[in-house]
Amino acid sequence: MKQQEQIDVMRRLFALREQDRNEEMLGKVVRVPVENYTSPEILDREMAKIFRTHPIVAGHVTNVREPGSYLLSDWNKIPYVVVRDRQGKLRGFLNQCRHRGARLVSGDEKQLKAFVCPFHNWVYDLDGSLRSVTREYNFPDLDRGEYGLKELPVVEAGGLVWIHPAADAEVDLESYLGPMLDDLVDFEVDKLVRYRKTKVVKEANWKLLIKTYLEGYHVPYLHRTTLSKMFRKGVLSHSEHGPHIRMIAARSNIEEASETDPESWRILEYASVYYVLFPNTFFIMHPDYVSINIFYPEGPDRTIWTHEMLYREPDFEGERGQEGLAKRFEFTNDAVFDQEDFAVAENVQEGLLYGANEFHTLGLEEGLLAMFQGSVDDRLI
Ligand code: FES
Ligand SMILES: [Fe+2]
Repeated sequence: MKQQEQIDVMRRLFALREQDRNEEMLGKVVRVPVENYTSPEILDREMAKIFRTHPIVAGHVTNVREPGSYLLSDWNKIPYVVVRDRQGKLRGFLNQCRHRGARLVSGDEKQLKAFVCPFHNWVYDLDGSLRSVTREYNFPDLDRGEYGLKELPVVEAGGLVWIHPAADAEVDLESYLGPMLDDLVDFEVDKLVRYRKTKVVKEANWKLLIKTYLEGYHVPYLHRTTLSKMFRKGVLSHSEHGPHIRMIAARSNIEEASETDPESWRILEYASVYYVLFPNTFFIMHPDYVSINIFYPEGPDRTIWTHEMLYREPDFEGERGQEGLAKRFEFTNDAVFDQEDFAVAENVQEGLLYGANEFHTLGLEEGLLAMFQGSVDDRLI
C-alpha cells in the first residue's frame, strides 16, 4: 500500500470512528441458506468449479528459498509438491510416481536431492525428469521423456507461492489479485521468515470458518476478554478486487495518529489489514506479525485448517524475541482462533443439524460475508 493510500485509508478510518460505524458494505440484509454448509453436492461443485480451477496459495516463499527445499500440499485432494530445483527455478509437481502412482515425498525429508520412489525406487530429478528406472529390462520400450513427473503451474508473487491444480492453466496473478498483490509487495511480505505452522482439522464447513473473520460485529462479544481491548471502536474499511476482499480494522491506538504528520503515518501501526485471497486463504497483517490461514474442505462439515505465523527477523531477535513470538502465537492461534472463532463455528455447524434456521441472516455489518458467499455462488452456476 503506497503512502498516499495509507493516508487516505487512515482518514477514512477517522471519519468512520466519528460516526461509530463500519464503512457501508452491501447496504442490505442478506439471507444465506444453511445447506451451503451441509450439502455434499454443493461441496462437489465447489471442488470442480473453484478449487480445481483457481490458483491457490501453497505457502510462504521462506519455505523454498534454497535448491532442494520444498512445500508439500496439506491436502490429499490436490497432492502437489513445490520444489526449488538446482537452477533456482520453482517447480510444482503432482507428488505421485509415474510408474504406479506411489507418493514420492512424505514430508519427513529435510531437503530433496531427487525424488526417489519408495515403491520400486524410480528416481526423478528436481526438474521432474525421470533419471533412472530400477531393473530397466522390465520396460524394454520405455521412453523416459514421457514419464517425467506431472508438472503444475507455479508462480511466486508477493512473497507467496501459488499453485494451479490444472496442468494447462495460465496463471496471471497480476490481474487476478490486482491491488491486493501490490499491497503484499509494498509490505515486503517476501522478506518475512517463518515462526511456526500448525495443521488441525475443524468440524465445520470451510466457508463458515472463513466467515468468522469477515465481520467486526462479534469482536466486543465473542472476544470480550481477548481482542476487544485492541479494537475499541474498531471500525472497518474494505475494498474488493474480483472475489478478493481487503479489510482494514482500526486499532484502539489510532487516536494517537491524529496528532502527528500524515506523511509519517504507517497504517500497520494503527490497524490490522486482512485479505481474503480467494478461495481459501485468509491472510492477516498485524502490526508486528503475519498470519496465513488456509482452509481445505475434507467434507461439508470438516475442514483442514493450517496456520503459518511469520515475522520480520529484526523485530524479534534473540531469546526474548522468540519468547515474544511464542506469546503472540499462543494468543492468536490458541486463544482467539481456536478457542473463540473456530469453537463458535463448530458449534454453529453442529447446530445446523437441529434445524432452528433454514438460513443465516446477515446484517449490514456482515455484508462482506455475503460478498464472499456471492463470489462462491457465482462460480457454481
Ligand atoms: S510406483 Fe514408484 S517406482 Fe513403482
Ligand atoms: Fe473473531
